[in-house]
Amino acid sequence: MGESLVNNFLLEKIHGLRIDKNILILAHNYMIPEVQDIADYVGDSLELSFQAADTSADIIIFCGVHFMAETAAILSPTKKVIIPDVNAGCPMADMITVPALQMLKSEHPNAKVVCYVNTSAAIKAESDICCTSANAVRVVESIKDTDEIIFVPDKFLGNYVSTKVKDKKFFLWQGFCPVHASILPEHILRVKYMHHDAKIIVHPECRPETIALADAVLSTGGMLKYAKETPAREFIVCTETGIIHRLKKENPRKEFYPAYHDAICPNMKRINLEKVLWAMEDKDSQILVPEDVASRARTAIERMLAIGRED
Ligand code: 13P
Ligand code: SF4
Repeated sequence: MGESLVNNFLLEKIHGLRIDKNILILAHNYMIPEVQDIADYVGDSLELSFQAADTSADIIIFCGVHFMAETAAILSPTKKVIIPDVNAGCPMADMITVPALQMLKSEHPNAKVVCYVNTSAAIKAESDICCTSANAVRVVESIKDTDEIIFVPDKFLGNYVSTKVKDKKFFLWQGFCPVHASILPEHILRVKYMHHDAKIIVHPECRPETIALADAVLSTGGMLKYAKETPAREFIVCTETGIIHRLKKENPRKEFYPAYHDAICPNMKRINLEKVLWAMEDKDSQILVPEDVASRARTAIERMLAIGRED
């Protein structure tokens, strides 16, 4: 079969099943274009958490990486949450373990633990409150009963937050995202040289020296909002390149240049239309979180959701 025939076949089957089985398809902003285009909702980690918490669907197909689907499963314990590829992980989330976090907590008994959403359920269960790149500053500002913060696992996001919240002492776990760490100032400057008027939008998972060049530091959802609302016509995008599809689709008269073409998250790219269809047909890749872990992780996530949507 030709490629477009195969795609039409897949699309028809996906459309039929989503109605028959009352399925909600969520997709992160880094998904490949075909997957974004069939999703009921495309968004950043925080927006997808809200969608998962609010849905009346019976099944959620979560097109993203494992910690995101796990967060959805924790927030919607009565739904089936299925990830189309169980091997779509996040290397940053794997850079911290429960015993290591427990050790850090015992070294700083007065500190509150803020975990980035890019963590396993077990790490969230050990944390006081969760955050995403969209609300990390506000989450830390909401902590009033101590001035000591253990921030895990992203040292770059933690460092960025520490530059905004001056009245707290931070103990940063030394994890990082290899994709965002690969975006360097020289990449940005090369593109800026060609496009002088372009606004530089940077994800807070980037290095401090990359963040230093930003016109705006934003979550992926924040980038989409900023691109729409600002009168600027050109943007240098410092995050995973998958977001460019949506940026272009929603702003057809504007130009978006990736700072670095190789800023591609291989885990996010594991999911394609075939895998989405298989996941819809067969519930084997359901995300299951043991209830004792889920209930403690839920407390940390719900504290974050109570704080709201954006910094
Ligand atoms: P956002 O929450 O900004 O979409 O980021 C998630 C992520 O994994 C970035 O690498
Ligand atoms: Fe993890 Fe980085 Fe991929 Fe986001 S882009 S899922 S932080 S590896």
